[in-house]
Amino acid sequence: MSVALIILAAGKGTRMQSDLPKVLHKIAGAPMLVHAMKSGAALDPARTIVVAGHGADLVTAAAQDWDEGAEIVLQTEQLGTGHAVAQAAPALDGFEGDAIVLYGDTPFIRPETLEAMIAARADNDVVVLGFEVADTSQKYGRLVEADGALTEIVEFKDASADIRALPLCNSGVIACDAQLLMSLVAEIGNDNASGEYYLTDVVALARAQGKTATVVRCDEAETMGVNSKAELNAADAIFQTATRAAMVEAGVTVQMPESVYFSHDTYVGPDAVIEPHVVFGLGVTVENGAQIRAFSHLEGCHVSRDAVVGPYARLRPGTELAEGVKIGNFVETKNAVIEAGAKVNHLSYIGDAQVGERTNIGAGTITCNYDGVFKHRTTVGRDVFIGSNTMLVAPVTLGDESMTATGTVVTRDVPEGDMAVARARQDNKPGFARRMFEKLKAKKAKAAKEA
Ligand code: UD1
Ligand code: CA
Repeated sequence: MSVALIILAAGKGTRMQSDLPKVLHKIAGAPMLVHAMKSGAALDPARTIVVAGHGADLVTAAAQDWDEGAEIVLQTEQLGTGHAVAQAAPALDGFEGDAIVLYGDTPFIRPETLEAMIAARADNDVVVLGFEVADTSQKYGRLVEADGALTEIVEFKDASADIRALPLCNSGVIACDAQLLMSLVAEIGNDNASGEYYLTDVVALARAQGKTATVVRCDEAETMGVNSKAELNAADAIFQTATRAAMVEAGVTVQMPESVYFSHDTYVGPDAVIEPHVVFGLGVTVENGAQIRAFSHLEGCHVSRDAVVGPYARLRPGTELAEGVKIGNFVETKNAVIEAGAKVNHLSYIGDAQVGERTNIGAGTITCNYDGVFKHRTTVGRDVFIGSNTMLVAPVTLGDESMTATGTVVTRDVPEGDMAVARARQDNKPGFARRMFEKLKAKKAKAAKEA
């Protein structure tokens, strides 16, 4: 059966105290909206419809950045969740299949849970995702059941003391035939404690038409919503804990796991070692057996088998390390392909560059890739020895098996097998240092006497 996702993302999120729409705040590097889209993607949806309002342009960009095919519908006034879903009606005109409503600020719904809801649809017209709370003072809508079926959802504000005492709460996720859902949301009124169009009313409306409804239960943690920066931090912490555990389960050695920060898309292969205090930005893949040593920061890069990175290395976007490459302390790389067995061990910047197999880049070497306006490339061949403190002024190419003398400023290409030396010749002045020291010490003594 085809599925259409409807993701509600029009709210401002006043309690975030931010100009950014709530659903664009990030957990593990991805907007919450993207986390919701990723969960929904497990159902292989035929359509993904995002209901946007506050910051709609930014929300559209973020949604389509993740999924080009995402469709946006506007809800210009936030009149309630039922009203929000109703905005999707024109887009879903003629759509045959189920609709599943998700919230853009609820990032942890598991794909398996959504699959269970779709499975429950086989015997029920409306399926609502519920969870039980230990503390019934929480202000969620309550799910009212009779004879094992769901009869209605009552918002906390509108609920009697008896209903508020029920532990079964509404997550907001709902699955229903798309056309039935659209006809139900069209009937919703706003005569309630909030004066809003409540999506939750669809259950009683469906039951009144003789339709059936049921609850699929999940863990409270899955339905965690984010309303403030403190809750965003808590959600991020939950994501990190789960990701670290999943990495370890998959055979990665993560030392002091609580100090390692992962992005939502980080991939690390088995037998890789991640030392303490490593930060993974977006788009990092690390192959089996590589070592990421302490205090390194990686973003948009690929680390092949048995490469060693750090301690204290910074790999920026476009970095590709081949097998067995060594990147040592205080080395920064950007848009750089470093081929198998090459070494950049100390205090270097390698940007917009290609470094050939087994080449050794000496300490303090810098690719001078930027002239203030344009970026230029540096190409270094295989088996090259770059002397310490070489400045490679790009664009420049160094042939295979070439060499540079320490301190050389390379401004011209170096042919294969040649050595480039470009520095002032050394001149030793006999006794000069000793005479100079004596003069300076005498001057200091005289000044002290006069003071
Ligand atoms: C909703 C449910 C409640 C449930 C709770 C779970 C209703 C009426 N209530 O309450 O039963 O226990 O979620 O967290 O549905 N949104 C729009 N447009 C609107 C209103 C909301 O896009 O006009 C979006 C919000 O941005 C948010 C989501 O819908 O992502 C939920 O809205 P919110 O106002 O937070 O609903 P709750 O009052 O928490
Ligand atoms: Ca909410």
